Amino acid sequence: MYTDADILRLARDIVSARKVVALSGAGMSVESGIPTFRGKGGLWEKYDPEEYGHITTLRHHPERAWIMLKEMQEAILPAKPNAGHYALAELEAMGLLSSIITQNVDGLHHVAGNKNVIEFHGNLQTTSCMDCGFQQPSADVPLDPLPPRCPKCRGPVKPDAVFFGEAIPVDALTRSHHEAQSCDLMLVIGTEAVVYPAASMPEIARSAGATVVEINPSRTPLTHFVSSYIIQGPAGEVLSKVVAEVKKLKG
Ligand code: OAD
Repeated sequence: MYTDADILRLARDIVSARKVVALSGAGMSVESGIPTFRGKGGLWEKYDPEEYGHITTLRHHPERAWIMLKEMQEAILPAKPNAGHYALAELEAMGLLSSIITQNVDGLHHVAGNKNVIEFHGNLQTTSCMDCGFQQPSADVPLDPLPPRCPKCRGPVKPDAVFFGEAIPVDALTRSHHEAQSCDLMLVIGTEAVVYPAASMPEIARSAGATVVEINPSRTPLTHFVSSYIIQGPAGEVLSKVVAEVKKLKG
């Protein structure tokens, strides 16, 4: 667990930093009711990501891929931001957070009010036809029977998220590199940091001289190798306490 001193330490680091950037992962949205990928109860315990999450499966066996996508959409589409998302939005509004690089496809940072969000793995909120490109809100895609088809051309459809076997959008990659390289404090929130290239962002920040701080109930491969310290607690709880301290420090 963490102490009040940990919270105060991070609040001070944020206030004194020149440029703060956050990298968020699935743990960020756990308090919004969305399960993680790895670990107990994670999505990858049920579905082999290399099969169900691969672009070739979506193209050639969409009925299989859509079993998992349906489960993801049912968790993600009704979800609301939690206290952690709102705390990050407040930090940005106070001019104390430059950007969020997120691996999450739930769009909750935007909903919470953050403006500068880099969606590294795309977004599940919209779905596009793989043949004609027609895009529609994912909420409008009928999930019975599976797989859904394009309403215009009956082609296979794909949520606008990045699948295994697909490249990271160039713009997201370029902007993330720039943010990681130019920050002096990176908050790494709720990610196991094992999926590259997103996982290289804390390493890039650290190599450029930044302090890297993790917020995660569990240690990760970054802990004490790349990160300077970890606040071991849930993101929503920790971030709202940190932002309350930041406000006190700013008077
Ligand atoms: P993981 O599922 O690998 O890791 C989730 C992390 O969240 C773990 O380190 C948990 O300890 C932590 N965690 C759990 N509850 C938390 C809480 N309440 N607050 C804070 N942290 C908590 O998820 P990611 O690292 O995001 O890729 O996974 C990265 C990528 O792997 C995903 O973007 C996805 C997947 O394959 C694609 O979809 C392309």
